[in-house]
Amino acid sequence: MDALDRLTNRRILEQKIAQEPEPQILDAEKLASGLKSKVIGQDAVCDDIAAQIRRRLALRQRNKPIGVFMLAGPPGTGKTYLAKSLAAELGRALLHFDMTQFSSGAHGATQLFGASKGYIGSNSYGKLTAALRDTPDAVVLLDEIEKAHPEVHKNFLTAWNDGFVTEASDGKQISTTRAIFMLTTNAATDALHALSERFADDADELRRASTNALGEAGFAPEVLNRIDRIFVFKSLTGLDIARVAALEIEAMIKSYGLDVADEGIDPDILINMMRRQSRLGTGASSRDLVRAVEESLADTLIDAKEHGHTKVALVSAEGGVIAKPQ
Ligand SMILES: Nc1ncnc2c1ncn2[C@@H]1O[C@H](COP(=O)(O)OP(=O)(O)O)[C@@H](O)[C@H]1O
Ligand SMILES: [Mg+2]
Repeated sequence: MDALDRLTNRRILEQKIAQEPEPQILDAEKLASGLKSKVIGQDAVCDDIAAQIRRRLALRQRNKPIGVFMLAGPPGTGKTYLAKSLAAELGRALLHFDMTQFSSGAHGATQLFGASKGYIGSNSYGKLTAALRDTPDAVVLLDEIEKAHPEVHKNFLTAWNDGFVTEASDGKQISTTRAIFMLTTNAATDALHALSERFADDADELRRASTNALGEAGFAPEVLNRIDRIFVFKSLTGLDIARVAALEIEAMIKSYGLDVADEGIDPDILINMMRRQSRLGTGASSRDLVRAVEESLADTLIDAKEHGHTKVALVSAEGGVIAKPQ
């Protein structure tokens, strides 16, 4: 007789096992291809991040977040966009914190983690604590983390090391073990750019050198030590710049309530943007370049909209770009 038949009611046990939640097994290839279909020119990062998340969901450490990941690299290369895309692909809530807002130590910490009793604001929760209480499975995006005060960075250490944050107003512990933390930074862009070329074929060495570069850029060692993995984004080159620029232009046109006609973007416009990008170097994001195009275009877009058109083509004209209704 089977030990289980002898020692327990096997039939009931089997029924109960069938009702247990399955351990979360994520299809890393599906996640990677979902990310790559959105985020252009960062295939290595997308593959790596999907593999890391799969591994970490499977071997969940009970007292730590699923992951604390740093996305580093030049502005306008898709770091914020990747974090948002990850939340969408995983079907998780996105808690987006613009860390430039927390540049003063004590005040920044109060806004995120609440105020102690007797202080102004102690009747309501901090932004981070309230959000994690309501959506513990979130992707927490700490965008441009280098802009926050170093004291604010240190406040995250218990979230990452001990698996909870303490809300200051009532002392409640709020778990961070189901969250994924995504930090982005534009710090040390030039150094990271040089390193990513030098160690293009050696991801481990690239991560080690990148950690050092971020240390030199002012991140405290205990913060860097607690980051599970650094992903270094490449500057976009060649057709990838044109791809991103074309998508950005399309989004901008849509914001005017219009669509781009098929083959409606004059290649010269994209060539000019690419030239400007290579002149300006890694400091120029596609967003800035599109903003410059928008300036010369806005009047003709508004005209097209007012005359009831729905589709436009963009042509390169003397001194800028104009929209022609289709
Ligand atoms: N690699 C990319 N793939 C697709 N779109 C991109 C990429 N990089 C930038 N973009 C576009 O430019 C916008 C700004 O990029 P963002 O992710 O904010 O850059 P950053 O690296 O500075 O965080 C995005 O919303 C997206 O539309
Ligand atoms: Mg960003």
